[in-house]
Amino acid sequence: MTKELSLEERFQQYVDAENKVEPKDWMPEKYRKTLIRQISQHAHSEVVGMLPEANWITRAPSLRRKVALLAKVQDEAGHGLYLYSAAETLGADRQALVKDLLDGKAKYSSIFNYPTPTWADIGAIGWLVDGAAIANQVMLCRTSYGPYARAMVRICKEESFHQRQGYEILLTLVRGTEAQKKMAQDSLNRWWWPSLMMFGPTDDHSPNSAQSMKWKIKRKSNDELREEFIDKTVPQAEFLGLTIPDPKLKWNEERGHYDHSEIDWEEFYDVISGKGKCNKQRMDARNKAHAEGKWVREAANVYARKQAEHSKQSAA
Ligand code: 3HC
Repeated sequence: MTKELSLEERFQQYVDAENKVEPKDWMPEKYRKTLIRQISQHAHSEVVGMLPEANWITRAPSLRRKVALLAKVQDEAGHGLYLYSAAETLGADRQALVKDLLDGKAKYSSIFNYPTPTWADIGAIGWLVDGAAIANQVMLCRTSYGPYARAMVRICKEESFHQRQGYEILLTLVRGTEAQKKMAQDSLNRWWWPSLMMFGPTDDHSPNSAQSMKWKIKRKSNDELREEFIDKTVPQAEFLGLTIPDPKLKWNEERGHYDHSEIDWEEFYDVISGKGKCNKQRMDARNKAHAEGKWVREAANVYARKQAEHSKQSAA
């Protein structure tokens, strides 16, 4: 028992000294497990996140918008692959992770269970959803697990393009006709509160945060990141001439942050337990895509096996 405690204490001292934990380092089993939990859900979010936006690729209003949206959706696929690879460095089996998602056992970000009825939603997703993801992922660039931190550096560079292209879509709409400005306002009304929910439950209701903060997996708490996002985003909404759908939103000079209404946590827990507007649609789409991609995976596996046999023969 003493030996295990000293291993745990040595690990904590190593992390406290701002060292990066690498795949071959000793780590507490719970550290490994919570990283697989978080990184796999992050990866699932990237892959499922492609669906609401893909819905608009064939209907983008111009070739330029279509190209930007195509690039963004392709980026998200790449982010998913980085993150599944990061999870594999912890000994996770990618097929098993994907199966958990397809079987509805694994979580992915609540935000992707909302519909995208108009083109303005693509702008709101880029501006708000990727904006919220950036707040969280910039923090994760300093997470204690090396492969996760390094994956974040590349992902964050691409997220800033995602956020800019979304904001520009809304800027174009608010400078257009009254109908276009209304479309932009309606999308802000739909996406504001779900974007705040992306950061997770309040700190006092987060079962994982305290330990994740101790192990420097998280460097800021859910509420800290949420406040950071609100403080940064309100002036952007003002520049667009849009109204944030929260009558209680007000700058609090003393706190140095915006005060806001209570988030609808019942909606949050409904959505993450599968009762959101689009949960079934998203899972059906993922399962259909997985089934239709079976031949690609089989062909790639045959090719890989032939390559391996070829290299073995040439080495003999
Ligand atoms: N959606 C779904 N589940 C959520 C959630 C959300 N928005 N917020 C929290 N949860 C879940 C947690 O996974 C946890 O459930 P679990 O124990 O079964 O995994 C439970 O609710 C309690 O939440 P905690 O705060 O205790 O959990 P965490 O400490 O893991 O914090 C988190 C939640 C802040 C989302 C953290 O997991 C995290 O930072 N994840 C990495 C970032 C991420 O996943 N972002 C999702 C969006 S990715 C994206 O937007 C792509 C971009 O390109 C658009």
